[in-house]
Amino acid sequence: MQFYIMTLFPDMVMEGLNTSIIGRAVNNGLLGIEAWNIRDFAFNKHNSVDDYPYGGGAGMLMQAEPVYQCYRALEEQIIQKKKKSGGAVKKPRVIYLSPQGRTFNQEMAEEFAKEDDLVFLCGHYEGIDERVLEEIVTDYVSIGDYVLTGGELPAMIMVDCISRLVPGVLHNDVSAEFESFQDHLLEYPQYSRPEIWHEKQVPSVLLSGHHANIEKWRREQSIIRTAKNRPDLLEKAELSEKEQELARK
Ligand code: ADE
Repeated sequence: MQFYIMTLFPDMVMEGLNTSIIGRAVNNGLLGIEAWNIRDFAFNKHNSVDDYPYGGGAGMLMQAEPVYQCYRALEEQIIQKKKKSGGAVKKPRVIYLSPQGRTFNQEMAEEFAKEDDLVFLCGHYEGIDERVLEEIVTDYVSIGDYVLTGGELPAMIMVDCISRLVPGVLHNDVSAEFESFQDHLLEYPQYSRPEIWHEKQVPSVLLSGHHANIEKWRREQSIIRTAKNRPDLLEKAELSEKEQELARK
């Protein structure tokens, strides 16, 4: 899986994604992450990439041309790489991070994880000239109903979330499957050694070695937790009569 991030702040993105599990996956060759600096495609001698919005209003806009030239160079690289490897040549999906997009969730992450290449476009200032968005963007994605100063953090969040679905990145592939949002339920509570900490005892069923009982307890805990913290998720969860009763308690 190859990620390309078009940004005015390449260092921020690369430093943030070069650690821990994602950094290891990059070192192992499972993932590739490239940050492309839109400023490298500025077309004036001051290297500026922003200008005032027509019609007035607060702030500056990123201009269409540097964003477009950056994308074209990137697209050309992707096409050449595909040709070399004998893969089918197609335009990559281009994700524009914006509060106006569709709200990101696990289902979308799973869909994006099927792609070989993903391009992220990070806006800054008050946004980007609409005309270039119309030409290159395939997906508008928001990470939540709040406004950030730029698209870099949202892009990093998406890269992190999608990366852990790529086979091999998590070492044990099972853990990406059985966790929060699987079956539209939150994850059950987990415990590790010691057995007693601050006078709190690990639930005895987890020490019993009885796998069926452990599974039953975990599912119940997931349901109770989801009902308490995210009742909206339960609408999509498939629950038995008994489980529905548990959720109502
Ligand atoms: N850019 C600014 N705010 C954002 C958000 N909530 N989601 C995605 N991109 C953004």
